[in-house]
Amino acid sequence: MIDSQAIDIQPIANSRIQELDENNIPFGALYSDHMFLADYYDGAWQDARIVPYQNISLSPANATLHYAITVFEGMKAYKNPDGDVIAFRPEANAERLNISGERMCIPEVPQDLFMEGLTQLLKIDAAWVPSAPNTSLYIRPFVFATDEYIGIRPPSNFRFMIITCPVGAYYGKPVSVKIETEYSRAFPGGTGYAKAGGNYGASLYPALQAQKKGFDQLIWTDGQNHEYIEESGTMNVMFKIDDTLITAPTSGTILKGITRDSVLKITRDWGMKVEERPVAVAEIVAAAREGRIQEAFGVGTAATIAPIAKIGFGDEIFELPNPENGELAQNILRELNNIRYGLIEDRYGWTYKI
Ligand code: COI
Repeated sequence: MIDSQAIDIQPIANSRIQELDENNIPFGALYSDHMFLADYYDGAWQDARIVPYQNISLSPANATLHYAITVFEGMKAYKNPDGDVIAFRPEANAERLNISGERMCIPEVPQDLFMEGLTQLLKIDAAWVPSAPNTSLYIRPFVFATDEYIGIRPPSNFRFMIITCPVGAYYGKPVSVKIETEYSRAFPGGTGYAKAGGNYGASLYPALQAQKKGFDQLIWTDGQNHEYIEESGTMNVMFKIDDTLITAPTSGTILKGITRDSVLKITRDWGMKVEERPVAVAEIVAAAREGRIQEAFGVGTAATIAPIAKIGFGDEIFELPNPENGELAQNILRELNNIRYGLIEDRYGWTYKI
């Protein structure tokens, strides 16, 4: 059991907070004053500490540099009107980190180590949680192997860290996505459900090919036959067709998005017809050709609710109606923000006050 006393805190001598311009925060450009670290060796997590944000040193033989033995999380904290710092569903991220970690032979990070490290870090860096509209503090917990060994074996030494950065919108405008039918992100029995670093590294080349054709992102399809919609790399995807919200079920190949789960709960509570079921590419393409896609959007921590403006499939490009003002996307975002910023009652128990 860890308590706050067990975390050694070395505060920064001179804060860099004056570098933060809340009205202009590019994603991931400026990191907060402090970071949390704990090391795993001799079979236990030890040396929990908070130090000024700084570079870390690694052996050139560090196993993660060679074999991507790393998993991460993405979550956010917000400032409510009283100035309190509120983290959104952090326990769900702690749980998913360990689900990902198990697949990568990374030892479990105890929930209390995760939560206490997070709490102390957000306390010391509370000034970094922005309060301008549509801003938040993005929180990146991650674990990686620290073995100095280039043979292949499950490592014995690891580091758990949390860094944070104030952020605005990840996508500044509605996105255009290409349904990918050549490359694969995941396949049954692989690591698709895990938030493993390698999944993201391997997605870059296919995404770059789509970017060269003018798209922002891919919609991945199943790795076996490219017949079913999966996810969009930085977010899960949802479609509103015939007044029904449709999304693919999470499985071994799709990340179990926490924003996805929140959106499904909210829309079901509103009484909306919601279907979590395999979504065939052919169904989406037919609906797009017939002009029946009322809205499509990505849902994710960084992306929040990201409206989709265009969907590409083969040589066809389908423009969706009014992506800037999709009623459902806007209602969902408003409801989520009201909960996150503490403006309405949190009927789901999703907020965690620091
Ligand atoms: C997140 O939404 O937190 C993610 O991890 C997506 C990302 C790779 C920026």
